[in-house]
Amino acid sequence: MLEVKQLKVSYGRIPILHGVDFNVTEGEFIGILGHNGMGKTTLLKALIGLLKPVSGEIQLKNQNITRYPPHKRNRFGIGYVAQGRDIFPNLTVRENLRTGILMHKNLRSKETTIIEEILEDFPRLESLLNRRGGVLSGGEQQILALARCLCGSPELLLLDEPTEGIQPSIVEEIIEILKNLRVKRGLTVVLVEQNLEFISALSDRVYVIRRGVFTGELSPEQLANPEIVQEFVGMN
Ligand SMILES: Nc1ncnc2c1ncn2[C@@H]1O[C@H](COP(=O)(O)OP(=O)(O)OP(=O)(O)O)[C@@H](O)[C@H]1O
Ligand SMILES: [Mg+2]
Repeated sequence: MLEVKQLKVSYGRIPILHGVDFNVTEGEFIGILGHNGMGKTTLLKALIGLLKPVSGEIQLKNQNITRYPPHKRNRFGIGYVAQGRDIFPNLTVRENLRTGILMHKNLRSKETTIIEEILEDFPRLESLLNRRGGVLSGGEQQILALARCLCGSPELLLLDEPTEGIQPSIVEEIIEILKNLRVKRGLTVVLVEQNLEFISALSDRVYVIRRGVFTGELSPEQLANPEIVQEFVGMN
């Protein structure tokens, strides 16, 4: 479904990604594990089109999307949940969900059905519908950000550290939600994280990123061994 070839990204003259290669098959959950500053967000921003690569190619569903702007990639099936719970604090939960629908012209007439379906997948949001986004807890905001993205029916979901600063019970809840969505919607997911337990619970394969380079792939057995993970992921 997604094929990334020799992707290089710089900020000004500073190279950050040094030729990243990886593939994701339809229905797969891929984890990308790396410490702070290793290039995880930069990679996702390049995949959604917020950053222009210096060179390399991104293919989605066998189409070269490297030069598509973000809204076109979004319409073509990529959903992106940014790092840091990017919701509208002054809109209610219901209005936040609506924004995820209204940006897709073809979904506007199905708004009521989409919101009903989303509430089945995210039952916690039902009692919060009329509350302003800004007053929700961090975990609730993260769940809302995920739900809003799902309102656009993405085929490929890019998640940037959804567990950052979130209490363990909500992390568990997000794991269950994503497992359920996988079965129900056949989603494909690329997840970047530092949280080893979360990434292990969800990923079929895990790549390690270190200073803008994919340095290896960890099997589930290797992931279960903290010493091996430490060796691959390295120090900050
Ligand atoms: N707008 C920018 N201009 C210049 N350098 C930047 C910019 N954004 C990020 N960087 C640098 O690029 C590198 C990779 O940053 P990136 O945000 O991709 O890391 P990350 O793996 O997502 O880290 P974290 O886990 O802290 O979110 C870092 O050294 C960072 O300082
Ligand atoms: Mg980041």
